[in-house]
Amino acid sequence: MALERTLFIVKPDAVERSLIGKILAHVEENGFRLVEARLTRLQREEAQTFYAEHQARPFFGELVEYMTSGPVLLTCLEREDAVGTLREIVGATDPAQAAPGTIRALFGRSKQMNSVHASDSAASSDREVKLFFGVAALSR
Ligand code: CMP
Repeated sequence: MALERTLFIVKPDAVERSLIGKILAHVEENGFRLVEARLTRLQREEAQTFYAEHQARPFFGELVEYMTSGPVLLTCLEREDAVGTLREIVGATDPAQAAPGTIRALFGRSKQMNSVHASDSAASSDREVKLFFGVAALSR
Protein backbone atom coordinates (compact mmCIF):
# COMPACT_ATOMS: atom_id res chain seq x y z
CA MET A 1 0.00 0.00 0.00
CA ALA A 2 1.25 3.50 -0.86
CA LEU A 3 2.35 6.06 1.69
CA GLU A 4 -0.36 8.58 2.47
CA ARG A 5 -0.36 11.95 4.25
CA THR A 6 -3.00 13.34 6.56
CA LEU A 7 -3.71 16.27 8.85
CA PHE A 8 -3.55 15.86 12.61
CA ILE A 9 -4.19 18.65 15.13
CA VAL A 10 -3.42 18.72 18.84
CA LYS A 11 -6.23 20.97 20.10
CA PRO A 12 -6.12 23.75 22.72
CA ASP A 13 -7.26 21.59 25.66
CA ALA A 14 -4.35 19.17 25.12
CA VAL A 15 -1.71 21.85 24.40
CA GLU A 16 -2.81 23.65 27.58
CA ARG A 17 -2.33 20.46 29.63
CA SER A 18 1.20 19.90 28.17
CA LEU A 19 0.16 16.70 26.36
CA ILE A 20 1.91 17.37 23.02
CA GLY A 21 4.85 15.06 23.82
CA LYS A 22 2.68 12.15 24.96
CA ILE A 23 0.30 12.47 21.99
CA LEU A 24 3.09 12.70 19.39
CA ALA A 25 4.85 9.71 21.01
CA HIS A 26 1.61 7.75 20.65
CA VAL A 27 1.27 8.50 16.93
CA GLU A 28 4.99 7.81 16.28
CA GLU A 29 4.74 4.47 18.12
CA ASN A 30 1.92 3.63 15.70
CA GLY A 31 4.18 4.03 12.68
CA PHE A 32 3.47 7.64 11.71
CA ARG A 33 6.25 9.99 10.63
CA LEU A 34 5.91 13.72 11.26
CA VAL A 35 6.45 15.58 7.96
CA GLU A 36 5.15 19.07 8.90
CA ALA A 37 4.42 20.81 12.21
CA ARG A 38 3.48 24.34 13.34
CA LEU A 39 2.47 25.57 16.77
CA THR A 40 0.08 28.46 16.21
CA ARG A 41 -3.05 30.17 17.42
CA LEU A 42 -5.78 29.93 14.76
CA GLN A 43 -7.47 33.09 13.56
CA ARG A 44 -11.28 33.03 13.77
CA GLU A 45 -11.56 32.94 9.94
CA GLU A 46 -9.12 30.02 9.68
CA ALA A 47 -11.16 28.00 12.21
CA GLN A 48 -14.41 28.87 10.39
CA THR A 49 -12.96 27.80 7.03
CA PHE A 50 -11.46 24.63 8.49
CA TYR A 51 -14.79 23.56 10.05
CA ALA A 52 -17.01 24.93 7.23
CA GLU A 53 -18.81 21.57 6.88
CA HIS A 54 -20.15 22.02 10.45
CA GLN A 55 -21.39 25.58 9.87
CA ALA A 56 -25.07 24.69 10.32
CA ARG A 57 -24.52 22.65 13.51
CA PRO A 58 -25.68 24.14 16.83
CA PHE A 59 -22.19 23.80 18.31
CA PHE A 60 -20.39 25.64 15.46
CA GLY A 61 -20.00 28.98 17.29
CA GLU A 62 -18.64 27.30 20.44
CA LEU A 63 -16.36 25.10 18.35
CA VAL A 64 -14.78 28.15 16.69
CA GLU A 65 -14.42 29.87 20.10
CA TYR A 66 -12.74 26.80 21.54
CA MET A 67 -10.39 26.22 18.59
CA THR A 68 -9.21 29.85 18.76
CA SER A 69 -8.95 29.94 22.58
CA GLY A 70 -5.26 28.96 22.70
CA PRO A 71 -2.42 27.47 20.68
CA VAL A 72 -2.88 24.34 18.57
CA LEU A 73 -0.23 22.08 17.04
CA LEU A 74 -0.95 21.62 13.32
CA THR A 75 0.81 18.59 11.86
CA CYS A 76 0.96 16.53 8.71
CA LEU A 77 1.63 12.82 9.31
CA GLU A 78 2.72 10.12 6.89
CA ARG A 79 2.36 6.32 6.83
CA GLU A 80 0.62 3.61 4.80
CA ASP A 81 -3.17 3.99 5.06
CA ALA A 82 -2.62 7.15 7.15
CA VAL A 83 -6.23 8.43 7.13
CA GLY A 84 -7.85 5.16 8.23
CA THR A 85 -5.16 4.20 10.73
CA LEU A 86 -5.12 7.63 12.37
CA ARG A 87 -8.90 7.58 12.81
CA GLU A 88 -8.59 4.19 14.53
CA ILE A 89 -5.99 5.32 17.05
CA VAL A 90 -7.76 8.67 17.65
CA GLY A 91 -11.11 7.06 18.57
CA ALA A 92 -14.71 8.30 18.55
CA THR A 93 -15.57 12.03 18.74
CA ASP A 94 -16.99 11.66 22.26
CA PRO A 95 -14.17 10.51 24.59
CA ALA A 96 -16.77 8.66 26.71
CA GLN A 97 -17.59 6.50 23.65
CA ALA A 98 -14.00 6.10 22.40
CA ALA A 99 -12.42 2.63 22.53
CA PRO A 100 -9.98 2.04 25.41
CA GLY A 101 -6.40 3.03 24.57
CA THR A 102 -7.37 5.50 21.85
CA ILE A 103 -6.05 9.07 22.11
CA ARG A 104 -9.47 10.54 22.90
CA ALA A 105 -10.20 7.86 25.53
CA LEU A 106 -6.81 8.54 27.15
CA PHE A 107 -6.80 12.34 27.00
CA GLY A 108 -10.15 13.81 25.84
CA ARG A 109 -12.36 15.75 28.25
CA SER A 110 -15.66 16.18 26.36
CA LYS A 111 -17.24 16.01 22.89
CA GLN A 112 -15.87 19.47 22.20
CA MET A 113 -12.56 19.27 24.11
CA ASN A 114 -11.60 15.95 22.57
CA SER A 115 -7.86 16.77 22.41
CA VAL A 116 -7.13 16.00 18.75
CA HIS A 117 -8.51 16.26 15.22
CA ALA A 118 -8.01 13.65 12.50
CA SER A 119 -9.32 13.99 8.93
CA ASP A 120 -12.37 11.81 8.25
CA SER A 121 -11.70 10.85 4.61
CA ALA A 122 -8.99 11.04 1.95
CA ALA A 123 -10.80 13.98 0.30
CA SER A 124 -11.11 16.03 3.50
CA SER A 125 -7.54 15.10 4.44
CA ASP A 126 -6.22 16.58 1.17
CA ARG A 127 -8.29 19.74 1.65
CA GLU A 128 -7.10 20.15 5.25
CA VAL A 129 -3.40 19.52 4.53
CA LYS A 130 -3.56 22.05 1.65
CA LEU A 131 -5.34 24.61 3.84
CA PHE A 132 -2.62 24.67 6.49
CA PHE A 133 0.56 23.53 4.70
CA GLY A 134 -0.02 24.16 0.98
CA VAL A 135 -0.40 21.72 -1.89
CA ALA A 136 3.32 20.80 -1.88
CA ALA A 137 2.93 19.16 1.57
CA LEU A 138 0.77 16.43 0.00
CA SER A 139 3.65 14.91 -1.95
CA ARG A 140 6.96 16.48 -0.91
P1 CMP B 1 -13.37 17.07 15.17
O1 CMP B 1 -13.04 15.66 14.84
O2 CMP B 1 -12.26 18.05 15.14
O3 CMP B 1 -14.55 17.56 14.20
C1 CMP B 1 -15.56 18.45 14.57
C2 CMP B 1 -15.47 18.86 16.01
O4 CMP B 1 -16.65 19.43 16.54
C3 CMP B 1 -15.25 17.64 16.88
O5 CMP B 1 -13.98 17.09 16.69
C4 CMP B 1 -15.53 18.20 18.27
O6 CMP B 1 -14.45 18.98 18.78
C5 CMP B 1 -16.69 19.14 17.94
N1 CMP B 1 -17.99 18.50 18.23
C6 CMP B 1 -18.55 17.45 17.60
N2 CMP B 1 -19.75 17.15 18.12
C7 CMP B 1 -19.97 18.05 19.12
C8 CMP B 1 -21.03 18.29 20.03
N3 CMP B 1 -22.14 17.52 20.01
N4 CMP B 1 -20.90 19.30 20.89
C9 CMP B 1 -19.80 20.08 20.88
N5 CMP B 1 -18.75 19.92 20.05
C10 CMP B 1 -18.83 18.91 19.18
